[in-house]
Amino acid sequence: MKIKFKLNGVFTEVYVEPHETLLNVLRDRLKVRSVKYGCGVGECGSCTVLLDGEPVPSCLVVAAKVDGSEVTTPDHIAQTELGKVIVDSMLEEGAIQCGYCTPGFLVTIYAALARGVRNVDEIRKAIAGNICRCTGYVNILKAVKKILERVGS
Ligand code: FES
Ligand code: FES
Repeated sequence: MKIKFKLNGVFTEVYVEPHETLLNVLRDRLKVRSVKYGCGVGECGSCTVLLDGEPVPSCLVVAAKVDGSEVTTPDHIAQTELGKVIVDSMLEEGAIQCGYCTPGFLVTIYAALARGVRNVDEIRKAIAGNICRCTGYVNILKAVKKILERVGS
């Protein structure tokens, strides 16, 4: 079947199989490689995208159900003013090593800030579903503190 949705603000049409996930369609059909395949079962957060403004693991979303929706991916968020603050802060605090998890953290932190969250504990809860195998979480939380200093209240 063909679905139509808004991808990073652009109306997009793509053919999908009934069993395909949004993750597969983004990476394999639309070549959006900023969305990462990790566990494939909703446990690592590396495939997180915004679906109608909410962070979701795209590996658990049936692509056919995205018809008529709006999807925002990490590469797009990274170009925004807020996205740049997040990425810069993560780089400065050593919160990025291999970088595989970073797009998922970017989307999740961005979504929390966009809905008005302005404290570390709330963001810590928001990123509980994002796994980083390299840095541990100390540097990520340092980055979160720096992000909050920069975005203000
Ligand atoms: S690949 Fe989707 S949550 Fe791990
Ligand atoms: S930086 Fe490597 S998994 Fe997080």
